[in-house]
Amino acid sequence: MNNNEFPKGFLWGGATAAYQCEGAWNEDGKGFAITDLLTAGTRRNPRKLTTKEESGVYYPAKIGIDHYHRYKEDIKLFAEMGFKVYRMSVSWARIFPNGDDEKPNQKGLDFYRDVFNECHKYGIEPLVSIMHHDTPMALAIKQDGWLCKDTIGAYVKYAKTLFNEYKGLVHYWITFNEINMTMNYFGDVYGAGILSNQTTVIDINNVSDDSMSKEKQNKRFAALHNQFLASALVVKAGHEIDPSNKIGCMIASDAHYPYSCNPINILAAQNSMRKLWYCGDVQVRGEYSYFTKSFLKEKGVTLEITEQDKKILKEGTVDFYSLSYYTSGTDCLDQKVDTDSGNFNLGAANPYLKKSEWGWAFDPDGLRWVLNEIYGRYHIPLFIAENGLGAIDEVSEDGKVHDPYRIEYLKAHTKAMKQAIDDGVDLFGYTWWGPIDLVSASTGEMKKRYGFIYVDLDNAGNGTLERQRKDSFYYYKKLIESNGACV
Ligand code: BG6
Repeated sequence: MNNNEFPKGFLWGGATAAYQCEGAWNEDGKGFAITDLLTAGTRRNPRKLTTKEESGVYYPAKIGIDHYHRYKEDIKLFAEMGFKVYRMSVSWARIFPNGDDEKPNQKGLDFYRDVFNECHKYGIEPLVSIMHHDTPMALAIKQDGWLCKDTIGAYVKYAKTLFNEYKGLVHYWITFNEINMTMNYFGDVYGAGILSNQTTVIDINNVSDDSMSKEKQNKRFAALHNQFLASALVVKAGHEIDPSNKIGCMIASDAHYPYSCNPINILAAQNSMRKLWYCGDVQVRGEYSYFTKSFLKEKGVTLEITEQDKKILKEGTVDFYSLSYYTSGTDCLDQKVDTDSGNFNLGAANPYLKKSEWGWAFDPDGLRWVLNEIYGRYHIPLFIAENGLGAIDEVSEDGKVHDPYRIEYLKAHTKAMKQAIDDGVDLFGYTWWGPIDLVSASTGEMKKRYGFIYVDLDNAGNGTLERQRKDSFYYYKKLIESNGACV
């Protein structure tokens, strides 16, 4: 074995999410998910959420990249790159259109069965996120989504349906994508589906004082607690239905550094990292962190945790910790600095790092650092469920897409992973975010492309939807073939 090789059996692959690629938003009995009704935006012009379809508005989820109709072609391309794993999500509203229907939608069940079979045809293991941001809209309207305890029961029923239906076909599961996003400034709407009787248009990027109000914060943390309970119940049920199931959490785990060695910045960065530990401690250790009281007090949040809740959390701890890692942020409280770090990642810009067109810093060392921090805390297997570079790609005169910047990003992050493994971290897989171009979650654009496969589609939904291999496609193929050794 070459020294640069990754551990035998390392799971290389790519990750997508239903509402960002499937399209077919109301086909074959599917209901609306909250994420379907997000309008298109840009980095400077935030997306809006409408509670029903409005005429004259373009919703990128309507066609996605038409994966619903082209999954065979897409999976064939993934197989050509040598994927060992395909991380994807099931759309809850495709299985239960209203979230809590009595019976599942057979056509929805059939669709995912076909997708999983297609993966196995090429020896690709599916890794399934049970929920990736997309609470069914009907539950958001009827009962404020995750604020309502009934949503827990509906989710557990939905997850059990998947475990029973796909027993033997799927062995790896993630309960909630980036569960810590629910405590984010727009997490109440986006992650948790709390509409609070708002019936028109909601600006999800509204970071006004009202968005951080005590009332909103209380709702976010109450919804997050309900998601923790739902996750724990589902982990337990998934193990009972099939003891070979491996079920993980998924936490957005971008690194946070102090901007300087001023102790107030050190403490601020420590507090930012607590947003990860707050969720990780509950899902991995089965109990709230020692700092919970002060963490919540600072935000004006009072949370009710019953003895029964504690028992549920303890009985539903995850088998692995999966994470997304794109970039790093810095915390700076002692001076005014540029905070233009783009989209989800607030914080001061790091003068040592270059940034993408969307302001995300390029920081592979941060990946090594964060993997060590997480593993050092939990000592359970880790999986990188998302990592990638959103960039503007141009089709060149030769008709091809040359993307050396994406290859550079991939190479650097592969090296960082290997260094972390050599440090002793137990990392068992890596799924590049968006191996095929898809709709950006934060901006709704197609222009922010992550793929190794180019999709001919623009921000307004125009294009042939034809697929084309970029230069990075061939690089990732080589990388997988050599089990990471060719970096
Ligand atoms: C993660 C999400 O936050 O980041 C994905 O789980 C998302 O759904 C990814 O697409 C990249 O973000 P964006 O905004 O560039 O699509």
